Amino acid sequence: KKFLLDLTVTSFEQLNDRYFLIKLFSDVPMPEVAPGQFVEVRVDHSPATYLRRPISIHFVDYDKNELWLLIAKVGEGTKTLSYLKEGDKLNCLFPLGKGFNMEDVKGKNILLVGGGVGVAPMLYYGKLIKKQGGYPTFLLGYRTKADIMQMVAFAQYGEICITTEDGTAGEKGFVTQHSILNKVKFDRIATCGPKPMMMAIAQYAKQTQIPCEASLENLMACGLGACLCCVEKTIDGNLCVCKEGPVFNIDRLQW
Ligand code: FES
Repeated sequence: KKFLLDLTVTSFEQLNDRYFLIKLFSDVPMPEVAPGQFVEVRVDHSPATYLRRPISIHFVDYDKNELWLLIAKVGEGTKTLSYLKEGDKLNCLFPLGKGFNMEDVKGKNILLVGGGVGVAPMLYYGKLIKKQGGYPTFLLGYRTKADIMQMVAFAQYGEICITTEDGTAGEKGFVTQHSILNKVKFDRIATCGPKPMMMAIAQYAKQTQIPCEASLENLMACGLGACLCCVEKTIDGNLCVCKEGPVFNIDRLQW
């Protein structure tokens, strides 16, 4: 079931130059959200267009009845969102899409690989994995130290491994070069981030025969399977990432 709600901004936090975190309160109880699902937020105020942007769900705080969105300032839509302040309303359609696999996580070592703003869904996924008796490890890739965010939040649920492209924090290089991959045998991998990063992780997963899911960041508009701008070629034909995904088992993708 999808909800169309005017949520209230309870907190706006600029995390660094690129990323900001918005916490949104709902008057009605938050629906059940799967990790990896997303929200279509309204970014204009014209009743004629209802322009929306897809934003992945960073976290759901059921105690406070809050939805958290971690957003990168990349274009006009997200720039508009960066002007939000406490008390503002944000019109949200959610939860949308199919999320990460939550079956059979108990006792499993699960590697959650995020790059850039793709780290966003991993916080909520990590929380749910831990809650169900699994062991999440966060492998997070950034360009540089200044981009790193939400470390305290991630640390509550699992070990954190960092890579930066310039070596200013964690291990230097890309996530696929991190030493944790040689140390721990993971049962499963989930990834979200830039496509080249996810493809490299998918290749690693295939070589090591570890099941892997990827959350695709194809361009989306309607978020409902109507405009077809988000189509991805899969072994089952062309599928709308917004509806059939954004999370896919990599075996279904033609990578
Ligand atoms: Fe419109 Fe997927 S975003 S069909």
